[in-house]
Amino acid sequence: VKRRTIIIASLTTLAVLGVIFIQLSWLDSMTRLRKDQIYDKVEAITGRVADELAASRNVSAASGIRPFALDVPYEDIHAFTAAQRFTSQEIYEKIRLQFLAQELDDVPFEFGLANLANNYFQRKSAKFNDWSLDSANYKQIVKYVRPPSGSETESLVGDEALVIVIPNLKNAAFRSLRPTFVLAGVLTIIIFAAFGFTLWTMWRQKKLGDIKNDFINNMTHEFKTPIATISLAVDALRNEKVQRDVSKLSYFSEIIKEENQRMNRQVETILKAALLDRQEIELNLKPLPAHQIIQDVADNFVLRLQEKGGALELNLKAEQDLIKADEVHFSNLVNNLMDNAVKYSKENVPPKICLATSSTDKNFTIRLEDNGIGMNRETVKRIFEKFYRAHTGNIHNVKGFGLGLSYVKSVVEAHDGHIKAESTLGKGSCFTIDLPLQKT
Ligand SMILES: Nc1ncnc2c1ncn2[C@@H]1O[C@H](COP(=O)(O)OP(=O)(O)OP(=O)(O)O)[C@@H](O)[C@H]1O
Ligand SMILES: [Mg+2]
Repeated sequence: VKRRTIIIASLTTLAVLGVIFIQLSWLDSMTRLRKDQIYDKVEAITGRVADELAASRNVSAASGIRPFALDVPYEDIHAFTAAQRFTSQEIYEKIRLQFLAQELDDVPFEFGLANLANNYFQRKSAKFNDWSLDSANYKQIVKYVRPPSGSETESLVGDEALVIVIPNLKNAAFRSLRPTFVLAGVLTIIIFAAFGFTLWTMWRQKKLGDIKNDFINNMTHEFKTPIATISLAVDALRNEKVQRDVSKLSYFSEIIKEENQRMNRQVETILKAALLDRQEIELNLKPLPAHQIIQDVADNFVLRLQEKGGALELNLKAEQDLIKADEVHFSNLVNNLMDNAVKYSKENVPPKICLATSSTDKNFTIRLEDNGIGMNRETVKRIFEKFYRAHTGNIHNVKGFGLGLSYVKSVVEAHDGHIKAESTLGKGSCFTIDLPLQKT
């Protein structure tokens, strides 16, 4: 399974990278195409405007009056150069109209109209001179302003040239493709996010799978021992000699009781594991005397605490203790908190655990305080996450899955309650739980 996951993950990564690469090169060639396209269009525009300017030198002819009969002196004909006919603004407007017609509205341009006799730009736009300073980025297109060959004005006036420059053609091409780029970028991000999420889910699934396997292995083993022990004890109890000996009777029944408790803990762990898949807990809500359950759970810890030389202080002071809760989950909840309080005690200090209850009109509150190793602030923030276990100090000689508190939190929330953790590293921790009381 592991190898297959890796293969799938790397193949998908490869495919995604490939798609991105193709997309990039495609966008690149699109920019280049667009660049050529803009250039071609501007070239056509320049030609067209140049022709228009050239034709206008013959304006009078268009209106039917021949402006230069043979007796007209040459000096008059000179009045018809384009530069003399049009202001810069008018030429600019002509070009702009063409740009609009070609849907190049967002392409900036500058122009100049030169007299070829002296190479002097008689008409030009405001920033036209800039292009000569930056010929690397400016693209220039030059067209002669010449009357069509064979017309009467041909070679009567000095030649002129119309120059249109586009500052930074690449940028212009890029700008006109921007919506495409943005869309491509957004889609790529979505693909990446979805891909990342898939990998994460796969990783999580794998982790859950591993833990479950561990679990089932442990559990079958752990159940076999108490079952075998109980079976032996029961066999012994059937023996008549044993039945007559009261001390033996209580000895064997004590064994059965202990093994029974052990199995109970096992069941609780299984419940925690079952929670891995399901998000919601199915509750069997009943009015529950909380104090009694707490007392029962606490009894199971007395021995463990005594072994360590510690003590448990119960302050069951709540006036109302009838809560609306699921018996199994509620006792597991208390059990988990107690278990942590004992597990994460300091090594050389006898553990002292204080469990206090209180109640208001609506809520029942449990406060569990210990003098254990405590946690730093970052740890406290994360303890309710599945699988989270603190990494500091010598905690890792203590076993656990990191599921206890995430289970506790789910249970509390399924009961419409609240849980709060406070802790100081090296001093101890305190967990507070609010649960709604059974309405009467
Ligand atoms: N009373 C406590 N004092 C100090 N640290 C605690 C306490 N309770 C929980 N922690 C920290 O929070 C972590 C998560 O606790 P949680 O009960 O969820 O998992 P666990 O005890 O490691 O494993 P398990 O699933 O067996 O309960 C623990 O590993 C520990 O680092
Ligand atoms: Mg725990």
